Amino acid sequence: MARVLQDAHAGEVAAAYAYRGHWHSIRRQPLVRDEIRRIEGTEWHHRSLVKSLLDELGAKPRRRREIAMWTIGRFFGALCFVSFRFGPMYAAGRLEAMNVGQYDDARRYAERLGLAHFVPSLLEMREEETRHEVFFGDQCRGHFLLPIASRLLGWSPPAARPVTGWE
Ligand SMILES: [Fe+2]
Ligand SMILES: [Fe+2]
Repeated sequence: MARVLQDAHAGEVAAAYAYRGHWHSIRRQPLVRDEIRRIEGTEWHHRSLVKSLLDELGAKPRRRREIAMWTIGRFFGALCFVSFRFGPMYAAGRLEAMNVGQYDDARRYAERLGLAHFVPSLLEMREEETRHEVFFGDQCRGHFLLPIASRLLGWSPPAARPVTGWE
């Protein structure tokens, strides 16, 4: 349980810095830029929520994983200024899919361990990560590189959701 949360905690910092670079690099689409900026904010929020769950378990973030993910986040954030549009959007979608899985795992562990009060915030974070995944998925849907990327890297955008009951 602590391990999944530690991974999630470190993953959030990677996502936050990568998105900071990403939205800074977008000049021509203010709506997309604003949404990625908002998503960055939710990742910082998740990080502090996960930290409080870790505190309650008496566990600390794993230093090496934090440093590794910090570096990855900064690296990809910087890369957004040089790469094409498709790459960062695809990488972001794939990362979000991984986050969804982490919060699913964490919730299952919490239920098994009788930590029922962890469940609502884990579900809420999962829900938000799903929104992120759909958003980035929408950004790369229909791109000519998508079929190749999906075959190589194993992620494709989730099916578009109906608008009702969403948001
Ligand atoms: Fe997050
Ligand atoms: Fe996210």
